[in-house]
Amino acid sequence: MEAVLIKKMSQHVGQQVTVQGWVYNQRSSGKIIFLIIRDGSGLMQAVVVKQEIGEELFKKIRSLTQESSVRVKGLVREEPRSVGGYEMNVTSLEIVGVAEDYPITHKEHGVDFLAEHRHLWIRTPRQAAILRIRSEIEHALRNFFYERDFILADAPIITPAACEGTTNLFELDYHGEKGYLSQSGQLYNEANAMALGRIYCFGPTFRAERSKTRRHLLEFWMIEAEMAYYDIDDNMKLQEEMIGYVIQRVLDKCLSELKTLERDVEKLKAIKLPFPRISYTEAVEILKQAGEEFTWGDDFGAPHETIISSHFNAPVFVHRYPTAIKAFYMKPDPDNPEVVLGADLLAPEGYGEIIGGGQRIDDLTLLKQRIAEHKLPEEAFAWYLDLRRFGTVPHSGFGLGLERTVAWLCGLEHIRETIPFPRMLHKMYP
Ligand code: 4AD
Ligand code: MG
Repeated sequence: MEAVLIKKMSQHVGQQVTVQGWVYNQRSSGKIIFLIIRDGSGLMQAVVVKQEIGEELFKKIRSLTQESSVRVKGLVREEPRSVGGYEMNVTSLEIVGVAEDYPITHKEHGVDFLAEHRHLWIRTPRQAAILRIRSEIEHALRNFFYERDFILADAPIITPAACEGTTNLFELDYHGEKGYLSQSGQLYNEANAMALGRIYCFGPTFRAERSKTRRHLLEFWMIEAEMAYYDIDDNMKLQEEMIGYVIQRVLDKCLSELKTLERDVEKLKAIKLPFPRISYTEAVEILKQAGEEFTWGDDFGAPHETIISSHFNAPVFVHRYPTAIKAFYMKPDPDNPEVVLGADLLAPEGYGEIIGGGQRIDDLTLLKQRIAEHKLPEEAFAWYLDLRRFGTVPHSGFGLGLERTVAWLCGLEHIRETIPFPRMLHKMYP
């Protein structure tokens, strides 16, 4: 018989089904064993009665260790008091593998210990719930762009030049040539947008961050869109629609996972479009009114972002940052070239910047000048400059950090739980 998913148990009430999974926990009362089985999609209680299953098998089941793998067959019924709301009356059980002493028991463990055992930690219901939500978010993002006729155009991972400054580049030896792991697919996105109109890429990006924070990984996934003929306002509108779409999907599909995480879903439900938009200068005013000493022209740190976002119940766009603190490709505001037509999206509840984006320089001379000012090698950008030589158009794009988005939607304190195997400062194992 085909095995069924615990998550889909509501469709099998009154039926004999097989579940393939692992023993998460068990307790017994002499004649009955209550097994909690997990199968990756959820948890379910399986009730084993000695009289029905026979003395010998009953004994074997009772000695089953945590994380032993089993195939259980039985009759499904509704049981609101049980985890997940359903219960199985076991008629047969096959032991697939008996587990050795499992290091992650049901008592509390320190986070360093858990991180060392990340390959096992991901089996716990909380971690599995996060990873299911992450998967849903990725699907939602792809669906969002697919429904809007965006073309998925993958950007390279190995690149000959820096996109986001040279301080956190991972360098590699490309058979004698210097290469770098991509910090962002943006520059290639711009080429692809000139070829295909509206495009996105979705892949891993790399930054050799040197500080330990709750928000930074050395390897993270970014979905990056680039649109020909979009200005900064078109760009922000698309982003808020995307975020609204993702929130709705998570609320529709992941309520039980959010419950496992004890996420306050009311905060997510309350988010309405359009999102507030404030300029960098207005954001600085908010900081000053909050008593912060802050000089116009400085970049925001995490505490600043938290103060700014605490004024809003939705994500907030901060636009028109000082030109001097932003990347070389950002288009200056024609009304005030001291600032650029870039916008970051700050998540509520102190989750910080989840999107960076903006309108790009479309003028060849200005772009060359910026590359020189940023002391970047012009040869490496020859192809990028070509985009301004052959049919240049106003265009904009953005990059959403997947892990920060997962942290926010799941309500997590630390980014290390948002990806199966996080890459953090001085931490590569497992
Ligand atoms: O703001 P960033 O650096 O923007 C870019 O890379 C643009 N080239 C994107 C574009 O316009 N196509 O990074 C974008 C987002 C940030 O807002 C943040 O969510 C995430 O990527 N991010 C990180 N996430 C985890 N760990 C890190 N070290 C991150 N650095 C950036
Ligand atoms: Mg940024």
